[in-house]
Order: sequence, then structure tokens, then C-alpha cells
Amino acid sequence: MASKLQVFFLVLAAIATQSLAQSPAAPAPSPPGPVNLTAILEKGGQFTTFIRLLYSTQAVNQIANQLNSSRDGLTVFAPTDNAFQNLKTGTINDLTQQQQVELVQYHILPKFYTLANFQTISNPVRTQAGDFVLTITYVANNQVNVSTGMVETPINNPLRQESPLAVYQLDKIFGPKAPASSPASSGKSDGVSSAPKAEAPAVDDAGKNINGGYGVRSMGMAFVFGVALVTMGFLS
Ligand SMILES: *[C@@H]1O[C@H](CO)[C@@H](O)[C@H](O)[C@H]1NC(C)=O
Ligand SMILES: *[C@@H]1O[C@H](CO)[C@@H](O)[C@H](O)[C@H]1NC(C)=O
Ligand SMILES: *[C@@H]1O[C@H](CO)[C@@H](O)[C@H](O)[C@H]1NC(C)=O
Repeated sequence: MASKLQVFFLVLAAIATQSLAQSPAAPAPSPPGPVNLTAILEKGGQFTTFIRLLYSTQAVNQIANQLNSSRDGLTVFAPTDNAFQNLKTGTINDLTQQQQVELVQYHILPKFYTLANFQTISNPVRTQAGDFVLTITYVANNQVNVSTGMVETPINNPLRQESPLAVYQLDKIFGPKAPASSPASSGKSDGVSSAPKAEAPAVDDAGKNINGGYGVRSMGMAFVFGVALVTMGFLS
């Protein structure tokens, strides 16, 4: 009886050792230094147009300053290149510089929100673009709808949800609020919509590694459990 118990505890110890040896190091620490929105968007792989707008409107500098100085943080709804391509040709180029600035600011909330935080938000929600507000509805299970009144879209793909900056993929564009000039404008030279298409990588490298790691680890655990069962079986 005693030896049976001893073996049992030996096996337990083996399992513990195994899982200690296999457990991954603490989650990768976020890189030191200021949070870099454009780096996050570049990694996302399908935001080239929005990135270009962030630079051309100087919003990047303003965002960096706010992230550095404001304790509230920021939430950015980042429209994909596809979202821009669905706009009428020339829409963005026909905006004045000031309207482009507003368009970008319409996609930014002056506060950090995780998806879960939207459960308790009170509408309408002010954006960085002064009077431009959004209605944000928490549907269920981290499913959140954002509406301008004209455009409603679910946001379901967080690129980042870590204070002080949350970034969500947006498949539509909020606005532009006031259509620029007349519908006659169908100029061919639309620098924005001729932006190179950035294909989102089908597989996230980090994710793949993590999955591989789990696979190997659970095989190791399964083996140890198997041995434990067989051992117990022989002893009983
Ligand atoms: C942020 O990242 C982008 C893209 O990786 C880089 O070009 C830019 O210099 C970075 N900005 C800062 C302030 O580190
Ligand atoms: C961040 O703010 C501090 C002061 O609040 C300032 O000294 C520092 O230069 C700022 N850093 C950046 C990258 O703007
Ligand atoms: C959320 O948005 C989707 C797509 O626009 C819509 O079909 C759905 O009814 C919305 N749900 C709520 C609760 O507003």
C-alpha cells in the first residue's frame, strides 16, 4: 500500500515537473517606450490608407502626445483599406485638409475602452472631432456595434486592448460627415484609393508558435498521464 502511494506521488511529481518545464515564460512584455499606433496598424497589415491619412493630417503626432500626456488613453477605430476602397472614388481627396483631420478624429475616442468597457458606456459618445458623436451598443459577448447614425458596423477584431491604447478594426468608414462638393467629382487621380492593397497575413506567426507550443506540451502531458494510468493499473 505504501509503495503504491509512493509511486503515485512520484508520478504526481513527474507531472508537476513536466508542466513546470513546459510552461511558457510570462507573456511577452510589451516593448519599452511609447505606444506606437502606426506600428500596431502596420502589423495589422491592412491599414495602409489610414496610416497615410494619419501622417498627412499630422494626427500621428497629436496621438503620440495624447498617449504620452493623457491619463485617459485613447480608442482608435481603424478603417481597413477595403473600407476606403468602398468609398466613391475621390471622396477622400476631395476633402479639405481640415475635413481630413476631422475624418481621422471622428475615428478616435479620447478615452481607452476595452470591448467589455463598452457595456457601461453612455451614449452619445464624443469623438475627438468635437461635435461628431457615435452611438455604441454592447450587443453581447464582446460583440459591439458602433453607429454614426448613417453607418452602423460591428467591431469584433481588437488589434490592441491594453491601456492606454485600444485599437479596433473597422470595416466601414465613419463619414465623411459632409460630402465634399458635388457628385460630379469623379477624378481619376485618387491617391488614396490607389493605395497598394495590403493583404492581411493569413497566419499570425506568433499565434502559430503558441499553438505549436501548446500542441507539444499537451502531448507531453498526455504521455505522463498515460504512464500514470498504466502504473496505477499495474499496481491495483
Ligand atoms: C512608430 O512605428 C513606425 C512604424 O514601425 C515607425 O516608422 C515610427 O518611426 C515609429 N514612431 C516612433 C515615435 O517610434
Ligand atoms: C512625454 O511627456 C514627458 C513629460 O510629460 C516629456 O518629458 C517627454 O518628452 C514626452 N515624450 C514624448 C515621446 O513625447
Ligand atoms: C449590430 O449591427 C449589425 C450590422 O449592422 C446589425 O445587423 C445588428 O442588428 C446590430 N445589432 C444591434 C443590437 O444593434
